[in-house]
Amino acid sequence: MNILIFGKDGQLGKALQATFEASTAFACKDGVRFVYLGRAECDLSKPDAVSAALDQFRPDCIINAAAYTAVDAAETNELLANAINAGAPERMAHYAVQHGATFLHYSTDYVFDGSKEGPYRETDARNPLGAYGKSKAAGECAIEHAFLHATQGRYAIFRTSWVYGEGSNFIRTMLRLAQERDELKVIADQYGVPTSAAWLAEVSTALAFDRHGALRSFPSGIYHAVPAGETSWHGLACWAVQEASQAGMQLKIDTGAILPIPASAYPLPAPRPMNSRMQTTKLLQQLEAQADVSEWGYGAVALLRTPWNVGVTDYVRTIARQHTA
Ligand SMILES: NC(=O)c1ccc[n+]([C@@H]2O[C@H](COP(=O)([O-])OP(=O)(O)OC[C@H]3O[C@@H](n4cnc5c(N)ncnc54)[C@H](OP(=O)(O)O)[C@@H]3O)[C@@H](O)[C@H]2O)c1
Repeated sequence: MNILIFGKDGQLGKALQATFEASTAFACKDGVRFVYLGRAECDLSKPDAVSAALDQFRPDCIINAAAYTAVDAAETNELLANAINAGAPERMAHYAVQHGATFLHYSTDYVFDGSKEGPYRETDARNPLGAYGKSKAAGECAIEHAFLHATQGRYAIFRTSWVYGEGSNFIRTMLRLAQERDELKVIADQYGVPTSAAWLAEVSTALAFDRHGALRSFPSGIYHAVPAGETSWHGLACWAVQEASQAGMQLKIDTGAILPIPASAYPLPAPRPMNSRMQTTKLLQQLEAQADVSEWGYGAVALLRTPWNVGVTDYVRTIARQHTA
């Protein structure tokens, strides 16, 4: 079995590699070949490069962790964002349909406009506010379209939000600023769910592989994938600073110096959804249906039920340890 992973140098790409390397399911499995590609090996903005990689490695499973993720820059680079976020996954989806492969892809809360009162469901209408969200929504549509009359192959699109891992992200920025400044102003009226890249790697691969490392069947479609609970950017900043401080990291401020502001006071080139909450019942039910107590899928069920701040605490403690070492 060949497993081809695009985006090896991103937060999720690195987490996927760590997940597969740590997994007992793949530890002694012969005949499984993992191929990890970054931008240098395959530039997803070049359609021929995507096709060449697929033809060369002939994957039974494609995992696309790559994306154009510069939300504000996308406003002035719409063509490039579209090529990477819609054109490339479309090719991957067509390959999966033609060759009966499994395709795992990742999308975002930014496909929604954020005007809904409660959590978004998978079936809610897409209405992206900015160019990044539009390109990711176009990617979702292209995959759905490619699989419309498919008689073989399957796909999952995991919609997630506020990802943090090995790389630049909001939490790292807040901790750096908390070391430099006397006061922080952070948006308190946009709500979502912080999601660890490691968490996402584990949950998403649990849908597609069984405990023996074999591909398994699941209903193709979109799955919302975030931990339990919700918070605002301000709530996340306060939690991260509090946990870092408790873990011994030297900061200039405590949570009292993190002031809540409305999003309207911090305008950015690309508008963000005010509400990014997503309901995860569909993924939870599917994982429960395919899990028993001895399977790694069971761990994924527990992960889906785990509140977001558990992952943030682990993450911040790791950063604090690196700082104090
Ligand atoms: N980050 C978030 O807050 C967030 C929220 C919701 C959804 N998501 C989705 O989650 C997935 C993973 O995100 P992430 O946080 O891991 O993103 P990330 O850290 O920005 O990683 C994206 C990776 O894509 C690669 N890439 C960009 N353009 C490319 C190109 N032309 N050819 C090949 N590779 C290219 C980047 O390569 P370089 O390393 O060379 O730049 C980078 O390694 C994405 O689908 C994203 O849309 C992310």
